[in-house]
This record gives sequence, structure tokens and C-alpha cells, in this order.
Amino acid sequence: MPVAGACLMLALGFAACDSSHKQRDAERIRELNEIPIAQLRVMLKGFPGEWRADSDAIRGKHEPPYGKPVPPGAKLITLVPPTQLRLGDMPVRDAIASRRSIREFADDAIFPEELSYLLWATQGITAVQRDEAGGIVQRFRAAPSAGARYPLETYIAISRVQGVAAGIYRYLPNEHQILLVREDAEVSGKLMTACYGNPAIGSAPVVFIWSATPYRTEWKYTYLAHRMIAMEAGHACENLCLAAVSCQSGVCPMLSYHQPKVDELLGLDGQDEFTIYLACVGKPKGEEK
Ligand SMILES: Cc1cc2nc3c(=O)[nH]c(=O)nc-3n(C[C@H](O)[C@H](O)[C@H](O)COP(=O)(O)O)c2cc1C
Repeated sequence: MPVAGACLMLALGFAACDSSHKQRDAERIRELNEIPIAQLRVMLKGFPGEWRADSDAIRGKHEPPYGKPVPPGAKLITLVPPTQLRLGDMPVRDAIASRRSIREFADDAIFPEELSYLLWATQGITAVQRDEAGGIVQRFRAAPSAGARYPLETYIAISRVQGVAAGIYRYLPNEHQILLVREDAEVSGKLMTACYGNPAIGSAPVVFIWSATPYRTEWKYTYLAHRMIAMEAGHACENLCLAAVSCQSGVCPMLSYHQPKVDELLGLDGQDEFTIYLACVGKPKGEEK
């Protein structure tokens, strides 16, 4: 087939693919609009009376793991240990008072120590409970979690962190490491496209992306789980906001993202694990050092 013909076929293929995406999006939006508002509000309400769960936990079903497995041979980067961090000694009151959503970022890269601090502040391990034999019973994290179920995974899209290749990484709280999901020099542009071209995403050196694995919480709390998970993403993001301010960085929390596109970028199935919150992080523009 002549080159021009092949290009035309390819272009038509992409156009068809794009229009089927748009059709699927439109159907999904129609479906969501048809859910009665009262039904949607149920998710925000507590249980009227004593809560009796018919949960998998009570039925004795196997407890789901707290984190995703580490694939064999995965590239892992060990972060600056929390005990060695010298950042974040701003009084909490000052951090709360000076936090503002930041949408324009300087070209500066983030230093590895700051990345370590921000990850620790959002989902890092802050206490370990042991049994009499010294075995670990429970690890506690920087942000609260209903029933200590920890349904969130933290992904980071790195564009400019000193000494770290651009790409998508996943935080491993227990090891305080990041796992390389995929190196990608174009990650910033791809994520910006998946967030409707939002320039804040494109200019941020790092974007935090939290996913939810609902079953970790549903296992114990069934229909109460979804409200809890949304709140927990808020807790993690607020910790990030305050920790960032305490090291002269800024954050903008983001919910305007195309669900299937961001899930696809992270390699999530969109069903058992999906994106629920994003936050761009960096040095505010105009305050370059
Ligand atoms: C759940 C949530 C979602 C948000 N989503 C976006 C967003 O998609 N884009 C954006 O520019 N800001 C977003 N924001 C930031 C708000 O616009 C911002 O918090 C608000 O304007 C108040 O400003 P402040 O954060 O500086 O106090 C979001 C904030 C929250 C809490």
C-alpha cells in the first residue's frame, strides 16, 4: 500500500478510536447524570443506628494485603530515611496559615530529600506495633485510615527530581522506597493531556496521584467504605499541602482529570484499583532561588 494510503488508514483508525472514546465518555456522563441525587448523597451520610456489617471480614474471608506486590526484578530507589530528614521544622500554625493552592511552578527540580519528606508525610510509616515476640502486628501511617485498612496507593509522576529519571513511580511505605512503574520522558505532557490540558500539571516537577483499592476497606466496612476512602485521600493530600509549605514548595489538589486516561497512564484496571485524587507539587513560580 502506498505510504499516503497507509497514513490515511492510520488517521481514519485514530479518528474512529477517538470518536468511540468520546461516545463512551458521553454514555458514562449520561449514566452518572441519571443517578438520583438522593442516592448519591447516601455516600456522604453515616449509618442511622448501630452499624452491623455483613462484611467479608465477619464471614472470615481472607484479609486483602495492604499493598500491591513488588514485581520480581522491579527497579527500586531507596529514599532518604525519615530519621535523616532535615526538612519541615516550620510550626504547623505557620504552615496552615500560609498554605495556598499553587498552579504555576518554577523550573527548579525537587531535591531527593524533599521527595522523601513529602512521601513520608503523606503515607509514610510513623509507628510500628509489635507482639511480645517482636513480630510486627501493625504499621501505622502519617495519615489516618479507617480501621487501619490503608486503601490508598501513592503514585508519583516525576518530571524533575534531581538524579531520578522522569516517569511513573509507586511509593512503598514499608520500605520507604519508590518502585519504577515506567520510565517516560514525556510523562508530564501525557499527564497534562489526561487532565484536560491543565498547565499546572504540565509545569509541576512532581504530581502525586492517589489510587484507591476499595476492597481493602470494603472487606471490613462494606457500604461505609467509599466515604472513608474519599476522606482518606483528603487526609493524605492535606498532609502533602502542609509538608510542602514547610519546605517552601506549593501544591494544588486536582480533581479535574479524565478517569480512564489517568488510570491507563498508571496501568490501573479502573475497576479494582483506580485514581481518586491528584496533586501537583513544586516551587512556586517567581520564588526561584
Ligand atoms: C477536592 C478538591 C479538588 C480540587 N480540584 C481542583 C482542580 O481540579 N483544579 C484546580 O485548579 N484546583 C482544584 N482545587 C483547588 C481549589 O480550587 C482551591 O482549594 C480553592 O480555590 C481555595 O484556594 P486555596 O486552596 O488556595 O485556599 C481542588 C480542591 C479540592 C479540595
